[in-house]
Amino acid sequence: MSDTLIKAQSVGRRYQQGRVSVAAVASATFRLHAGDHVALVGRSGSGKSTLLHLMAGLDAPTSGAICWPALGTADTLLPAKISLVFQVPSLLEPLTVSENVALPLLMAKATCDIGKAVADALATFGLERLMARLPEELSGGQMQRVAMARAIVGNPRVILADEPTGQLDQPTGRAFLDALVAHLAGTGTALVIATHDRAVAERMDSVWYLERGTLIDAPNTAGAI
Ligand SMILES: Nc1ncnc2c1ncn2[C@@H]1O[C@H](COP(=O)(O)OP(=O)(O)OP(=O)(O)O)[C@@H](O)[C@H]1O
Ligand SMILES: [Mg+2]
Repeated sequence: MSDTLIKAQSVGRRYQQGRVSVAAVASATFRLHAGDHVALVGRSGSGKSTLLHLMAGLDAPTSGAICWPALGTADTLLPAKISLVFQVPSLLEPLTVSENVALPLLMAKATCDIGKAVADALATFGLERLMARLPEELSGGQMQRVAMARAIVGNPRVILADEPTGQLDQPTGRAFLDALVAHLAGTGTALVIATHDRAVAERMDSVWYLERGTLIDAPNTAGAI
């Protein structure tokens, strides 16, 4: 079985803004393998969020090609095979923390002990005491960590996290990343983190740099498709 989870060749995504066409992603060629830990860096507006959405199959390229050799087609990826942690808050307001974290398991009709899986995912980030709270009762940093607990609960093959430490102070961010990396050790789950935080980027195995929509320094690009 292929361990190439995502393959992209000259992928681009243009948006129409009135009469102007904007290349949010101009060209990205890469392979993501099982177990890769990648930091996706670049200035604000360079296309990081857009590229993560393409990698999740949530959005389709307007040029080039992307595929998921070991995972299947775009419509089957979220949330069981790939989990995406959005840059903006994404917890469902009427649901408690526990109910939010359980969602991917319920959507996948998981047969495991959902209560235990949710408790374990929250415990990974030291969030057990927040279980019964509503999202509006959380700080921004707590919401981000609950969203990450929701991302790991179903043991996906790929986690795509969009600035997951953006609202955390440095010690909390470090502890959060330690917990995430320890949790993923030996699982083969690939992790891609879009970040402006140098300390986070340094913790990943490789750094992919986006410059005005063009992906530079992505390894394993030769003959990607
Ligand atoms: N839905 C959209 N419609 C039109 N333009 C968009 C849309 N989404 C993003 N863009 C544009 O595409 C470019 C890339 O945006 P993107 O959000 O991917 O950047 P980013 O690297 O994630 O930025 P940041 O670091 O600020 O989060 C920007 O110029 C943005 O204005
Ligand atoms: Mg972004």
